[in-house]
Amino acid sequence: MIDLPRVHSAYKEELDEAISTVVNSGSYIGGSVVEEFQSTLTNFIGAPTFGVGNGTDALQIALMALGVGPGDEVIVPAFTYASSAEVIGLLGATAVWCDVQPGSFNIDPASAKLALSAKTKAIIAVHLYGQLADLEALEKAVGAIPIVEDTAQAFGAKFTHGKHKGKYAGTVGAFGTLSFFPTKPLGAMGDGGAIISSNSALHDRALRIARHGQSKKYVHEIIGVNSRLDPIQAAILGVKFKYFSNTTQRKESLAELYRKELQDVEQLKLPERQLHSTHVWHQYTVRTASKYRNSLKEYLADQGISSMVYYPIALSDQQAYAAMIERVPIANSRLLCDEVLSLPIDPSMDDTDVLMICSSIKQYFAA
Ligand SMILES: Cc1ncc(COP(=O)(O)O)c(C=O)c1O
Repeated sequence: MIDLPRVHSAYKEELDEAISTVVNSGSYIGGSVVEEFQSTLTNFIGAPTFGVGNGTDALQIALMALGVGPGDEVIVPAFTYASSAEVIGLLGATAVWCDVQPGSFNIDPASAKLALSAKTKAIIAVHLYGQLADLEALEKAVGAIPIVEDTAQAFGAKFTHGKHKGKYAGTVGAFGTLSFFPTKPLGAMGDGGAIISSNSALHDRALRIARHGQSKKYVHEIIGVNSRLDPIQAAILGVKFKYFSNTTQRKESLAELYRKELQDVEQLKLPERQLHSTHVWHQYTVRTASKYRNSLKEYLADQGISSMVYYPIALSDQQAYAAMIERVPIANSRLLCDEVLSLPIDPSMDDTDVLMICSSIKQYFAA
């Protein structure tokens, strides 16, 4: 779906140099390169951040810092990646599914409200595909319950209207969590993640948990984990961050080209833009009736065009999460699993690549 060596070729020398600097430094855990990247991230996002091993760890640590454990419930959309739910189970708590809005693919605040109970300890709002969940509406719906923003897919997206106007993804909730998985909006060349929190008590607690629960070396006050951002990944991320705004703009123009080319294909629903958010186009995801979706995917594959179904099975229907709770209707989540198809959107693509993909899609529906 994304040709990473082609994306990196534009600044390969800088990447090579950044990697050799770490190799030659002899400092392979933490150190100045990690601190420098954390400062870059904090300055850009406008809220304190620190690096961890990956986006799943970031979610787990955020929930641990909120005190989630056995007997607690955490509300999470049924239509998202497994990490958002798996960490709830790992902590001995129970995921309670809520639904998403089919137009935005993001958490439905009314559904989250219905899923609340006296045991609800937190809510995970996922910013799916690069566009922000409506956190203002969610806050109104759920009151004081802490929100963890799973920002794995939406680094750099910004609120453009309402109470949170001007704030970046991940800075509104009690915690924001980032993934630097290579294909993510800001991607490393391996695993990486970060935690964002403007609440200094929560930030310090999460940082301590990520460092074995230590308050100082060899003094362990709480149970923690070992989760750190690797310096080689931090060096790579520092270089890629310089190009982040350019790559996002390029994806925006590719998305606009898809929109223009596909808007008249009546069998397709194109991604809806939300008034309250910018879009970083982690995915360009269209919907088509389930009778077409898999055969369209196969047709494109026959022409050498990759496409992906994110996600084919609602988390509520996964064997691993059979013990979790389905308290409210989640029909939209199940419908989307049958209808979504993500098309390639990679900043190194040419306009002609998009035109070729769109022409194949039109041929499929014309046949
Ligand atoms: C929505 C969402 N949450 C969490 C994660 C987990 O990130 P990581 O792969 O860095 O653990 C991912 C990434 O795959 C994701 O897409």
